[in-house]
Amino acid sequence: MPVTTTPPTSLDVPALLAGLTLEEKVGLLDGADLWRTRAVERLGIPKIMVSDGPHGLRAQHEQGDHLGGLEAAPAVAFPPAAATASSWDVALLGRIGRALGEEARALGVSVVLGPGVNMKRSPLCGRNFEYFSEDPFLAGRLASAMVDGTQGVGVGASLKHFAANNQETDRMSVSAEVDERTLREIYLPAFETVVTRSQPWTVMCSYNRINGVFASQDPWLLTTVLRDEWGFEGLVVSDWGAVYDRDRAVAAGLDLEMPSSGGVGASAVLRALEAGTLSEAEVDRAAARVLELVSRSLPALGAGRTYDEDAHHALAREAAADSVVLLENDGVLPLAPTGGAVAVVGEFARSPRFGGGGSSQVTPTRLDDALSELRAGLAGREVRFAPGFTLSDETPAAEAARLRDEAVEAARGAEVAVVLLGLPDAYESEGYDRQHIHLPPQQVAVLEAVAQVAAKVVVVLTNGSVVEVAGWRQHADALLEAWLLGQAGGGAVADVLLGRVNPSGRLAETMPLALEHNPALGNFPGTGDVVRYGEGLLVGYRWYDARRLPVAYPFGHGLSYTTFAWADLETEVVEDGAAPRVRVALTVTNTGDRAGKDVVQVYVRDEDASVFRPEQELKGFAKVALEPGASTRVELELDARAFSFWHPVLGRWVVEPGAFTVRLGASSRDVRLERTVDLAGEPVVLPVDADSTAAQWLAHPVLGDRLRAVLDGTSHGAILADPEVGQMMSAIPVRRLARFPGSPFSEQWLEDTLAAHAAG
Ligand code: BGC
Repeated sequence: MPVTTTPPTSLDVPALLAGLTLEEKVGLLDGADLWRTRAVERLGIPKIMVSDGPHGLRAQHEQGDHLGGLEAAPAVAFPPAAATASSWDVALLGRIGRALGEEARALGVSVVLGPGVNMKRSPLCGRNFEYFSEDPFLAGRLASAMVDGTQGVGVGASLKHFAANNQETDRMSVSAEVDERTLREIYLPAFETVVTRSQPWTVMCSYNRINGVFASQDPWLLTTVLRDEWGFEGLVVSDWGAVYDRDRAVAAGLDLEMPSSGGVGASAVLRALEAGTLSEAEVDRAAARVLELVSRSLPALGAGRTYDEDAHHALAREAAADSVVLLENDGVLPLAPTGGAVAVVGEFARSPRFGGGGSSQVTPTRLDDALSELRAGLAGREVRFAPGFTLSDETPAAEAARLRDEAVEAARGAEVAVVLLGLPDAYESEGYDRQHIHLPPQQVAVLEAVAQVAAKVVVVLTNGSVVEVAGWRQHADALLEAWLLGQAGGGAVADVLLGRVNPSGRLAETMPLALEHNPALGNFPGTGDVVRYGEGLLVGYRWYDARRLPVAYPFGHGLSYTTFAWADLETEVVEDGAAPRVRVALTVTNTGDRAGKDVVQVYVRDEDASVFRPEQELKGFAKVALEPGASTRVELELDARAFSFWHPVLGRWVVEPGAFTVRLGASSRDVRLERTVDLAGEPVVLPVDADSTAAQWLAHPVLGDRLRAVLDGTSHGAILADPEVGQMMSAIPVRRLARFPGSPFSEQWLEDTLAAHAAG
């Protein structure tokens, strides 16, 4: 519904704040309804509208809901993040973000509720289709590009769900128990990247608790980390219904409660003001942020905004095709325009599943299906079709057998059977998690039967998060991971199968051999409202690498119809010390006979870490398009964060001195070039006190020498120098050693030495 009135183009926030009554200010901190902020007509403050979601708008101008049950205004359904993350293409994400912004403007929407950058801790998370990756670097860079695109046309983004919302089970109450290093290195960096690079207009807090505290009222999360450390300048909005104690939430830094609490929030705030547990300054701060959000929204609101639906549909198709991951191919793909019969099998071919369930459900402007697109593209070949199965688990056995037999007849004698398998809608949704990662057994049965009679089999997967393939992939001569591909996915699948698009997707999440190999096993989804992140840093490939586990397809994997050669790796330390920068360059050549795109993935391995670190971590990537025979020099720069870890004792990022190997991979398990660089880093000096161990004292650059001097020539000194007993002794706190008979130093000496050191 286009906006027809002409609102002002900016607000004088300080003046308005001064003119508002206390009740009006408190009122601004609450939504007006499901999707709008509150207006204050007396002062000419208009309301603005926000809408889901990350990959297509769900603008509900009249009746609404936040769970995707009711219709929304038609909008282009782009592929969800699980798919677009596989493109590894920041420019593409930027274009999608921009298109979303254009549609938002045309529909009178000021903030798009997305993207979501939560980590894929377990493939079971029902909402994984909405999230980018198991890797924070990849998720952060892609989401940042998307936010830039949307905000570039004057529409805000809402980075969500902040933070540690990695499951749907008990999402409104569960406490994620995560140590700080794991939060800093795995669960927060994607948010940090988007905030520091793109300044999203809003950040949406998550429903869950983190280490016991609701994200919606966690001052450490919403103020210390988000604003003081990362410099966030926008507004924090609650997830829909995430507020617990409204007054504590305001104090913690949650500015806007959505949807409208019907006055409950305002009463709590007014009561707290009266009791003196909340100050008017805190209310003013939040109200000012609401006004600033309204103000920055105004320029884009105006009558007559439209968008080019054809162009957006074409972009959705391009994005979908570039998101498909070719997992296997024995040469059967691409399909030739002429040749023997092609059997298309699978209900998904005519009934595409284009998105996941819940708040991100889009009412698409149109919907392409793979069957029609394949028929059009293979006009020179006989194309047969059989649905093979239904998308319901309730299908009676006799009906399932009939459908399977029909599929076998369609595939009999076919030169190739294209079998579309996947997860029906009910398998993956916001609001609940999966119980397993298997395909429905009736689909596997159809594949097995079809493989008996068709000369070649191509399997195309439809799913929002990984499925187990080990039990059936031997039947596939080619295997395409086609995720959920948005409204133009049917055409995109045909584009890839027919070779009109050379596949260039790379997995943004590991495909494990079995769910039982997943690191969260036993710790997902938790019990009694507590979920313990026991695997710590070892999420996704970090775990499979550390455990040396075989996987079905590794993080970063994806094939092409052409081949690439990588050569002439150069690394240059352009800045050394505590904040190093390393330039990496290589030459990529398309050595095949088709144009194609390749993805260079840069992993960094810390060879000399003093703490446990993952085997390797993604710290850079670049996607390049090359004509046959063409070469290009790819250059990337690794910054300090590429080498650092969150020091649990110092409570900050540290680059330790030593060797780091820069590994260039075509996947996390296909490292093609590598080089080691030595970095000066920063010498880490850990603080010691009288309760630190002898080893900790001896490692200290100043106090170590002092201790060595008093130990010199003593029996304690001799024991400490012994290779065996010395190890035992060095683990004893010096205060206890001081009390041992014959100790050459006393507790007083320790205190005096520490005091003298502190005094400089
Ligand atoms: C979801 C959010 C969404 C909001 C509004 C919530 O249930 O978690 O992602 O933006 O609803 O629909």
